[in-house]
Amino acid sequence: MASSRVHIFVLAFCASLLFPSNCSHGDSGLQEKRAALFIFGDSLFDVGNNNYINTTISFKANNWPYGETFFKYPTGRASDGRLIPDFIAEYAKLPIIPAYLQPGLKDYTYGVNFASGGAGALVESHQGFVIDLKTQRSQFKKVEKQLRQKLGEAEAYTLLSKAVYVISIGGNDYFSPLATNTSHEEYVGWVIGNLTSWIKDVYKKGGRKFGFSSLAPLASVPSMRVIQPGNTGPSGEEVTALVKLHNRLLSKVLTKLKQELQGFKYSKLNLYTYAKERVNHPSKYGFKEGKMACCGSGPYGGIYTCGGKRGVTGYKLCGNVTEYVFFDSFHPTERVYQQMSKLWWRHNLEELFEV
Ligand SMILES: *[C@@H]1O[C@H](CO)[C@@H](O)[C@H](O)[C@H]1NC(C)=O
Ligand SMILES: *[C@@H]1O[C@H](CO)[C@@H](O)[C@H](O)[C@H]1NC(C)=O
Ligand SMILES: *[C@@H]1O[C@H](CO)[C@@H](O)[C@H](O)[C@H]1NC(C)=O
Ligand SMILES: *[C@@H]1O[C@H](CO)[C@@H](O)[C@H](O)[C@H]1NC(C)=O
Repeated sequence: MASSRVHIFVLAFCASLLFPSNCSHGDSGLQEKRAALFIFGDSLFDVGNNNYINTTISFKANNWPYGETFFKYPTGRASDGRLIPDFIAEYAKLPIIPAYLQPGLKDYTYGVNFASGGAGALVESHQGFVIDLKTQRSQFKKVEKQLRQKLGEAEAYTLLSKAVYVISIGGNDYFSPLATNTSHEEYVGWVIGNLTSWIKDVYKKGGRKFGFSSLAPLASVPSMRVIQPGNTGPSGEEVTALVKLHNRLLSKVLTKLKQELQGFKYSKLNLYTYAKERVNHPSKYGFKEGKMACCGSGPYGGIYTCGGKRGVTGYKLCGNVTEYVFFDSFHPTERVYQQMSKLWWRHNLEELFEV
């Protein structure tokens, strides 16, 4: 059985021998045909950058049971398994895109991941403990420079203009205390303003194809269902108002940029709706629990103790993580990420990878 399966596979693979351009060039031929993937943002997309910075345990996920489902060891991903960028890479037939700060990393031809757990669009959000968006932008410039040195101007530009740039940012700006005497409109304006200048920056370097995530209903994360002692950030109601404003302004700005920037293309993940649906109607999507975290303590598992290293050693871990929408007090499970990634890919993200 096993050998006949191998046989069929070999036949299918070498049928492309009839079309030598698909078969004989090996890796370099494949590389030319694949769009690279550059990833920016926060813990929804961070695959391990925060393992290498001096931060607090709140913004790290490098202890068990993080990673328990897929990798079987903690990787720095704030979930039990893979995140959206891992699934996108898989669907796009790319290798898993590594964290920029991973020691020894030299090859950026498939892209690289700059995202950092806790990061916001504003430098003030969790300042000193995260790689903020501004720093992620300068890291990208270093990569871009290195690509130009390695591949030459023309080939580097081709790679950068065919590449897809995805970002998840903003949530941490609204979990942080707002600047004093700033209206919601003004504050959200800064967040979207800084996101817009990131877009223009990448566009200047040749980037044309972008993937954005709307913000999730942040007031529904287990942590927001619990009164957190010493919390100085906005209340649940305030967060909801900010998130809605953010999502409206993001849509508006993207429509405008599409008219202003020639060749600018984007795909948007409707995380808000998809997440809200799963929180409110978990069984419709194959889950048993939409509100409580699999890993944490206190009501709803909303006390952020998953892994037992955040000041409290005791915490609860559920028996079957695939039944849960939330893995810890803030972050979804791999199963949720997989559903979202599939929906996004089929919605129209796939088109951006067609080069
Ligand atoms: C890391 O941060 C802590 C707390 O802010 C500080 O005391 C320590 O000196 C820092 N370590 C390094 C290597 O920067
Ligand atoms: C905020 O506004 C109030 C009322 O307008 C004013 O009294 C206060 O000084 C302002 N605070 C800061 C930090 O600007
Ligand atoms: C970016 O954020 C800062 C606050 O960190 C704000 O002062 C600035 O106006 C924002 N930039 C834009 C273009 O909105
Ligand atoms: C875990 O839950 C999923 C979804 O409800 C179910 O399909 C699976 O059989 C469960 N696994 C175990 C070991 O109970």
